[in-house]
Amino acid sequence: MFSAKADLPDSFLTERELLDLESRVCSYGDTVHYAEVPKIFERCEGSYLYDLHGTPYLDLQMWYSAVNLGYANPQVAAALHAQIDRLPQLACQYLHREKIELAEMICDSVQRGFGMHGRVHFNVGGAQAIEDALKLVRQTTGRQHMLAFQGGYHGRTLGASAITSSYRYRERFGEFADRAEFLPFPYTFRSRYPGDAVRTENECIDTVERLFEHEYTGAWNPKTGHSEFGAFFVEAVQGTGGYVIPPRGYFKRLARVCREHGILLVDDEIQMGFYRTGKMWAMEHFDAEPDIIVFGKALTNGMNPISGIWAREELIAPDKFGPGSTHSTFASNTLGTAAGLAVMKIITSGGYESSVMEKGAYFLAKLRELRKKHPEIGDVDGLGLALRMEMCHPDGIAPWRELADRMFQIGLAGNLQIRGTSMGLVLDIGGYYKNVITLAPSLEITSAEMDLAAVALDLVVARAKAQLGAP
Ligand SMILES: Cc1ncc(COP(=O)(O)O)c(C=O)c1O
Repeated sequence: MFSAKADLPDSFLTERELLDLESRVCSYGDTVHYAEVPKIFERCEGSYLYDLHGTPYLDLQMWYSAVNLGYANPQVAAALHAQIDRLPQLACQYLHREKIELAEMICDSVQRGFGMHGRVHFNVGGAQAIEDALKLVRQTTGRQHMLAFQGGYHGRTLGASAITSSYRYRERFGEFADRAEFLPFPYTFRSRYPGDAVRTENECIDTVERLFEHEYTGAWNPKTGHSEFGAFFVEAVQGTGGYVIPPRGYFKRLARVCREHGILLVDDEIQMGFYRTGKMWAMEHFDAEPDIIVFGKALTNGMNPISGIWAREELIAPDKFGPGSTHSTFASNTLGTAAGLAVMKIITSGGYESSVMEKGAYFLAKLRELRKKHPEIGDVDGLGLALRMEMCHPDGIAPWRELADRMFQIGLAGNLQIRGTSMGLVLDIGGYYKNVITLAPSLEITSAEMDLAAVALDLVVARAKAQLGAP
């Protein structure tokens, strides 16, 4: 840890002045003002962010899992410096070596994980890549209706909003004629059979299968076997939905139903890809083969953004998805591909499959200990380093949104006194009831940092309960 304060030039605006200015010149339409007092950060390194006063904040959500390899990762930084010196920019209508090599590494990872051959198409942000997947599905199937999950999140452009479950994100923006049909995700803790993964899985598969029981479900034509839906957009582990981990057998069965009815399976790995769950692609845990994979976020470790889709050769071969099918000025920008290539080289040679599972088990054990102490932690679960703490009323079941929100605000206030120092905790909230602390620490997190995280979380839960007047 280091102090940020000492290095600030005197001419910098003070924190108060910056916040005043922000309140006058910045839109409130993004997510900054979820915080009671928006936080200004000055530096970052490893698992830590540092505010203007040099206070360290242990980050347990790493920019919604965009910074899997830690802040200011030196190898990624070195690749960027080298790229700036050699080919810092290039219109994406021309080729450069990093783009081609990165596409190859992603294709190889899919080949290794699923044994499938395909191609990669780049874009800039996650939602834009989702839009590209939607275009590819529409073109391939000739259908514009999609299936997606309750609790699913795929971004906030208009097309991505149409397949994102939350009506709150669409309500103010008029008609979404191609809004997806949202089916229940197997969420064992909150299913009709709490704690029973087998019955939860069966019930959720039944719901999908019943769509194709007879003609009058309105979903398909039994004579042609064609469904009205082009694709099912899924997250193997729900991200914004609250790091919900499905029963292991579910996706294999879902993939079969989709295949039988000509529905493509689109696997949104934007949040869970790149070893967050201990596999390159989270879907690898579930033994189901996607037709299209969408990625973004951690590909560049949070540096110059790029995103993209991988699709099976039959869908995306040049005679199918020809030149100009989609385009964005900054797609496959050279700094993004250089960062992406560095990330891919690190994660394919670094033993992450075992280290992430080991660290995840260690962290989950700590969360289980905390749960024994605080009955308000209704559920803890994890797959690799995608971990969840579901905050509930003292009965351990009824969602307690205010408690999660208090925890978020307390962490961000940056005045936790631990082992003689003042620190903060960066948390994120997700979940159907906005009561889940979704934990996505750096994949490089150390045991000492996980120990510290457990102490800090304990303190934050206790303080949040006290502030809400809980015993
Ligand atoms: C699963 C998933 N899909 C899509 C998106 C949208 O990505 P972006 O915010 O880069 O547009 C996100 C972002 O949180 C996500 O988690």
